Amino acid sequence: MLAHSPSSTSRSGTIGLGPKETHSPYLPYASHSELPDLADTQQPHITVVVRPRKSRFEGLANAYSGVSWILGFKEKYSLALLIFFGGALIGFCLGRTMMMSPANVRELTVSGEWFWYRKAVYKPCIFIHIYASIISGIFAVFQFIPAIRRRAVILHRINGYMTLALLIPSTICGSVVARRAFGGDLNVQSAFYTDGILIVFSAGMGITNVRRTRTHRKWMLRTVAFASVPITARLTTISARHIISDIGSYYAVWRCDQLRYVMTDVDEVSQLYPQCTQPGVNLAKTFVAVHAAVKGNGLEYGSTVRLTFGMSLWIAIVIHVIGVEIYIRKTESSNQHRRGFVLEKYADDVDDGESLTGDR
Ligand code: HEM
Repeated sequence: MLAHSPSSTSRSGTIGLGPKETHSPYLPYASHSELPDLADTQQPHITVVVRPRKSRFEGLANAYSGVSWILGFKEKYSLALLIFFGGALIGFCLGRTMMMSPANVRELTVSGEWFWYRKAVYKPCIFIHIYASIISGIFAVFQFIPAIRRRAVILHRINGYMTLALLIPSTICGSVVARRAFGGDLNVQSAFYTDGILIVFSAGMGITNVRRTRTHRKWMLRTVAFASVPITARLTTISARHIISDIGSYYAVWRCDQLRYVMTDVDEVSQLYPQCTQPGVNLAKTFVAVHAAVKGNGLEYGSTVRLTFGMSLWIAIVIHVIGVEIYIRKTESSNQHRRGFVLEKYADDVDDGESLTGDR
């Protein structure tokens, strides 16, 4: 109350307002003359601060910012991207864990695929690919959490080497299997090989630049983006399969021995594909056209996958290449470090291994 009474202030002199009044930092008023005269109002001075009620979205936004801060992200949208793309990668890998059972690979891969994968050349490759890609896909996501890099760089290194030790053999084995995947069409093969080369090349660049953290980060982002191409391709192929089935005039080529492996009823084969049941026919050298229809039998469904998978892979490669480059350019600020009050750009060719644990 002392502060609100002009008489008491001048009496005590503690506020030090003389003829030349100066502002006191301890009073909410700029000068002595601004002090309210309580004698006029005789009311206690109460300030009520009304805060607007927090909306649910504000609460969510605060929770999001909190988690983003704890995980160490600098860009607002990085956590959202991690949830979306990392979630898709982990979700896909967990969803395909059922393929870790050999019986499921035989039963659940697209019709006709097991005809090739049961053979000695491909069998170990498909299983190495399935096991290694699922495990490495799950572990890869943790490499993109900045808090782990900053607070437990050793964990980042161990997990990184483990992920790569699985990802590279998985990609090589995937590429071996690609020779026969989905009919062994050149379109499918070339797309898988291109993706495989992109993955191994970027992973190699990432490893060789392990001490140049900015360059390392870019190549590792690319590696995971390219490794996820087949996931986007699987999504694209779903709509493409329905579109070509609705159009109704698409046919895929099947080799008779593979066709008869899928369609075991000889009468049915002789009715629908008589070339495959001719006496003395060389089944490995005779080919027939099978109509593509998602709601048809195993052969017809398999034809829709054969016809659309190569195209879907190419589309996915383009999307992932452009997408990851946009992300890398948008997050250039992550390639800066703090010197006093100034953010300075790191040169890519500077050996800044020390900053692995720094503000990045
Ligand atoms: C994180 C990335 C990947 C995961 C989790 C993954 C997982 C799998 C799984 C579980 C299968 C078994 C078939 C199925 O589930 O339908 C499979 C098949 C296959 N994968 Fe991958 N894969 C990945 C990336 C790649 C890459 C980068 C390539 C090529 C370089 C590749 C090539 C293949 C091939 C050719 C097949 C056989 C397709 C078939 O005939 O069904 N995959 N993959």
